[in-house]
Amino acid sequence: MRSPLLRFALPVLLAARAFADDIAVYVDGSLAAGWENWSWSSDINFAATDLFEGSSSISVNSEAWSALSVKLEGTFPTQQGLRFDIAGANSDTIVTISSSVDGTTSPNIPLSAFNTPIPADSFVSLLIDFRNLPGSGAALGNGTWDRITWQATADGDTYHIDNIVVVESIVIPPLFLSAEPLAVNTIAVTTQGDVDFSTLSVSLNGKAVKIQNTTSYTPVGTPSKSVTYLTLGTTFAAGTLLINTGVANGGKGSFNFTLPAVQFASIVQTVAHPISPLIYGVNFPPSASYVHDLGVTMARWGGNAVTAYNPAGQFTNAGNDWFFENRVADPPDADAWVGWVKGAGASTLLTVPSLDWVAKDATSYSYPITQYPVQTSTDPFLANAGNGLLPNGSWVSPVPDPKSVYTSWNSTMAKAWLKGLANKPTLVAIDNEIEIASNTHQDMHPVPMGYDEELARVLDFSKAAKDAIPNVLVAAPSTCSWWFYWTSEIGFTDNAAHDNIDFLPWFLDQMAAAEKKGGKRLLDFLDIHYYYQADTSANDDAAKSLRLRMTRSLWDTTYVDESWVGVSPQNHQWDPTIVSLIPRFRTLIDIHYPGTRLSISEFSSTADTDITGGLVTVDMLGIFGQQKLDAATYWGTVDELGPIGLAYWLYRGFGTTFGANSAQINLATPKPDTQGVYAATEGGKLSLVIVNKNPDTPISFDLANLPFGKYFMRHFGGGAGVAKWQTTITISASTYIVVPAYTAVFLKQN
Ligand SMILES: *[C@@H]1O[C@H](CO)[C@@H](O)[C@H](O)[C@H]1NC(C)=O
Ligand SMILES: *[C@@H]1O[C@H](CO)[C@@H](O)[C@H](O)[C@H]1NC(C)=O
Ligand SMILES: *[C@@H]1O[C@H](CO)[C@@H](O)[C@H](O)[C@H]1NC(C)=O
Ligand SMILES: *[C@@H]1O[C@H](CO)[C@@H](O)[C@H](O)[C@H]1NC(C)=O
Ligand SMILES: *[C@@H]1O[C@H](CO)[C@@H](O)[C@H](O)[C@H]1NC(C)=O
Ligand SMILES: *[C@@H]1O[C@H](CO)[C@@H](O)[C@H](O)[C@H]1NC(C)=O
Repeated sequence: MRSPLLRFALPVLLAARAFADDIAVYVDGSLAAGWENWSWSSDINFAATDLFEGSSSISVNSEAWSALSVKLEGTFPTQQGLRFDIAGANSDTIVTISSSVDGTTSPNIPLSAFNTPIPADSFVSLLIDFRNLPGSGAALGNGTWDRITWQATADGDTYHIDNIVVVESIVIPPLFLSAEPLAVNTIAVTTQGDVDFSTLSVSLNGKAVKIQNTTSYTPVGTPSKSVTYLTLGTTFAAGTLLINTGVANGGKGSFNFTLPAVQFASIVQTVAHPISPLIYGVNFPPSASYVHDLGVTMARWGGNAVTAYNPAGQFTNAGNDWFFENRVADPPDADAWVGWVKGAGASTLLTVPSLDWVAKDATSYSYPITQYPVQTSTDPFLANAGNGLLPNGSWVSPVPDPKSVYTSWNSTMAKAWLKGLANKPTLVAIDNEIEIASNTHQDMHPVPMGYDEELARVLDFSKAAKDAIPNVLVAAPSTCSWWFYWTSEIGFTDNAAHDNIDFLPWFLDQMAAAEKKGGKRLLDFLDIHYYYQADTSANDDAAKSLRLRMTRSLWDTTYVDESWVGVSPQNHQWDPTIVSLIPRFRTLIDIHYPGTRLSISEFSSTADTDITGGLVTVDMLGIFGQQKLDAATYWGTVDELGPIGLAYWLYRGFGTTFGANSAQINLATPKPDTQGVYAATEGGKLSLVIVNKNPDTPISFDLANLPFGKYFMRHFGGGAGVAKWQTTITISASTYIVVPAYTAVFLKQN
């Protein structure tokens, strides 16, 4: 039992006091006048007295994906923030501000983005600044805002909330948020409010350093923070760098750094190879402006929900991802999608369904509770739709009749569809992860898929695709993970039945044989999905550094995997405990089917909203180019302003791109656990990307052969979180180039 909370600290009381123009949403007893209850699938008490401030609070018990949601009769178009006191909530519960007038919604604001622990039995006061939304740093902008929603995620949520106020104005105290050394003689300073630079001073190893130039920018995406570049009269060197703001600055009046001894490195521009233009891809980009802003080169229409895509009605079914329910596909029209993506300048990868069924309508579902009363969970939005699972973990029986939800599909129909497309894709994938269809699409394919069936489907649908679109490139089999690269859902008896040859090498042999027999290549890209086998979901310091280290699994032929793969690999490959993904598959291709390209149509940083996810992605994109990967698309659609979006922006944003040829860079001390260094050339200009994966120490390089002159510089990360911006600098010495902690930097010769 929770007891009423009566003690309360003074500052929070002050913070909770209402100003004249503030709009109270909830204080005590019931919603304030003018607010309506638009919640769903939640047990809500507006006068809870088990834990409260004042005389009562709102207690909320939301099922998975359900919400406390309130709507104003009117709008709050220009107010500056939302404040509320909350106790006991899960950190993944999401707050959004939206407009019921035009359907606009803010970016998701998970409670975790406040970086404030939410105690179980007492309230913490949280403030959303509409000009600087927690997490993305984006601005809400003026709008017809009238609705506020606290939505639980998959686990549901139970919490108390109190003193909810839409605040008229937020006073931003002037603060230096970070000040960090970058490149040769630049200090990047992130600030909020109206700071005074006149008192700021810099010293290096005890000697005052002259600030020659101060240039300030207000980044468009994060307008509440300014970035100011200070150009120093002296280049950096190992030792102590002290940046003194000269003011109290919220208790952090100075920023101190120990600049480390340099690491020696050299660039060899003449040793270079082309970077495939298809490696900077994502799944389902949302708009042409997104493709442009992030420089996306390839877009995939893929994932579990496209296996049941019925182009005739634009219906689909995500199978086990969402209660085996039919729905209208999102986006609905593959043809139109290929059309606008091409128009935006990216190549397209369209997945072709290749099981025997596709969704017949937008409403049917496979496991009604009325038919199968005992199931372990049901759709919170559609109580009759179950997940098909019994409490003991088995599927319900009998298997449903596929005709109740699906309509037949085969390669003749696929061919007619592809032939009829007004907009032809660059690549097609023969379905998605069908090796695990007996789980993901259990209702339509309950039988475990083996080597032979998967091969037969790829051959059948690849022929159909090439007949329909003669120059289309085929990617297959889009295998989900390390385990299934080497065996099938049937298990090792299936390997045994195929001379104990692991699955993908066997598949390559068969595709080579098919070309020999039919005179035509039916596989252009060996397509795999790659997810780390280690679990980094805790997102604590250990998980963050593991996630950053594990980029080595993409290339390093000596890196024993830090997961079950490193212990019990279960395959018949050389160095079986070392993933060495790209070199391994390039070798397998050379042995089994030379000339086949390699694509990774799903990969992930494992942390889309954490700065380390952005740094992992920078490292991965660098590795893809350096290791000659042929194509890659990030899973899934990432926030343009979030860490993963920033990684794409760094390499390719707004038309300024990393060079087309990967150039050799020789490092005396490689340290791949904590840093990545990538070089490229194009049109006689050098570009560099350096990612520092250390959480709190700068790194520095003496870079031989770095041409002097003006460079365009971009960066994100560092002491102010995902703050980013860009400027032009002059490099006139290459003996000490510094990159601060948790930061990625892009430099390109002007
Ligand atoms: C608010 O809506 C929720 C969800 O529909 C419902 O359970 C609750 O009883 C409503 N509360 C009031 C006071 O209307
Ligand atoms: C939003 O509205 C306020 C108050 O009317 C106005 O001062 C401001 O310029 C507007 N901002 C934008 C981006 O339109
Ligand atoms: C920074 O360095 C100065 C001079 O060495 C020292 O007095 C100060 O305490 C340091 N501040 C921090 C935050 O480390
Ligand atoms: C689960 O229960 C069902 C129905 O009683 C039974 O047929 C099935 O064998 C059980 N599965 C396991 C793994 O025990
Ligand atoms: C696909 O189904 C249609 C309609 O039933 C049929 O005419 C066609 O022969 C089938 N194609 C294949 C490859 O089975
Ligand atoms: C200061 O730096 C900015 C940005 O690089 C540049 O445009 C400007 O000309 C510089 N001003 C001086 C006085 O050097």
